[in-house]
Amino acid sequence: MARALITGGAGFIGSSFVRHLLRRRTGLSVVVLDKLTYAGNPDNLREFEGDPRYRFVRGDIADAATVDALFSEGLDLVFNFAAESHVDRSIHAPDAFLRTDVYGAYTLLEAARRRPVGRFIQISTDEVYGSVASGACSEDSPLRPSSPYAASKAAADGLVHAYWVTYGVPAIVTRATNNYGPRQYPEKIIPLFVTNALDGLPLPLYGDGQNVRDWLHVEDHCAALLCVAEGGEVGGIYNLGGGNERANVDVARRILAALGLPRSLIRPVADRPGHDRRYALDCARARDLGWRPRVSFEAGLEATIAWYRDNRAWWEPLKSGAAAAYFRRQYGASFMAGPSAPPHRAASGSRRPRRRPSPRRPLAG
Ligand code: NAD
Ligand code: DAU
Repeated sequence: MARALITGGAGFIGSSFVRHLLRRRTGLSVVVLDKLTYAGNPDNLREFEGDPRYRFVRGDIADAATVDALFSEGLDLVFNFAAESHVDRSIHAPDAFLRTDVYGAYTLLEAARRRPVGRFIQISTDEVYGSVASGACSEDSPLRPSSPYAASKAAADGLVHAYWVTYGVPAIVTRATNNYGPRQYPEKIIPLFVTNALDGLPLPLYGDGQNVRDWLHVEDHCAALLCVAEGGEVGGIYNLGGGNERANVDVARRILAALGLPRSLIRPVADRPGHDRRYALDCARARDLGWRPRVSFEAGLEATIAWYRDNRAWWEPLKSGAAAAYFRRQYGASFMAGPSAPPHRAASGSRRPRRRPSPRRPLAG
């Protein structure tokens, strides 16, 4: 049976990809290697426990002994999703980004150099190109990463290229636009805004809200990755975009409209330092492989909002308790639900009760 290693498989996209692969390729077994950082969630993979085609290994991609042991078992496919993935966290503390996104990728490539693999797919990002004033970036466009996160991912892309050219490691890089869908950690704009809205909390919109992102549903991303792994050219780079450019303020308005909540919940806040204005990709190369994004942004967003509405037990712990420290530092207490308000508010008796607005217009599905 063919074997695939999925690093970062307990995260948002990685866990969707494990699901995608096990359903669509029945002759394949999967090993997930995941460190289970704050963003890794064993619940995302719970349904596969006991499946003979699935194994979970808790470990660090930057740990050569762990990685070598897995590669020595023989691997047909490696998909490297493991990363520190949030731009705002990279601005506060870049160290972990360099360690995982750069040194971790290097550790995996070193193992792939010594123990042959069929294909090594590096999951990269459109952020490596930097802000795009007009038009769209092709795979040959220069890399101008703006954040420590984007720079770390660009460094890994460079290593992948070097290991293909120098050592013949059969690697491919994919660069996707902003993903959305179920099980995304609620620090990213869509799950943050949806969960805040569900709690009646304000939506912290950076700057003037006119920054543009291109939205790709996670299922479309997973389909593209399988398509590239099976049909892509080794040594190649593939842009993967959803074709759904939207200004952030429009995304916020659409979320509020879907929940029947007022636009006044949008709260402009200080801009992100180095905030890229717009991302846009030319995806002709991936389309030539036969891939097309299928999920319309409107339908995908509606289904995503419904998922968060119906899965409070999944996301509430990720915004409270110890996890709340990040949100408190990034946004302040007024953007947080009652139980995670700072102690001085609770002690003074002024803690705002948690508001659960009833959507005026129920979501379909
Ligand atoms: P995520 O933050 O949801 O998940 C990352 C996963 O990697 C977690 O399970 C975490 O525990 C694991 N991890 C972190 N450090 C590790 C380490 N040292 N060793 C092993 N596991 C480790 O991220 P995501 O949004 O699912 O993104 C997955 C990949 O896709 C990343 O490489 C990211 O750069 C890339 N990407 C994401 C998007 C997006 O919009 N989310 C778009 C394009 C590309
Ligand atoms: O473009 C692909 C990238 O998309 C991935 O490589 C990253 O891993 C992923 O995190 C994402 O990066 P972004 O920085 O684009 O995503 P984020 O959700 O953090 O922000 C999207 C936009 O929303 C961006 O313009 C900043 C804005 N924003 C974000 C947050 C968290 C806000 O206005 N308010 C917020 O609170």
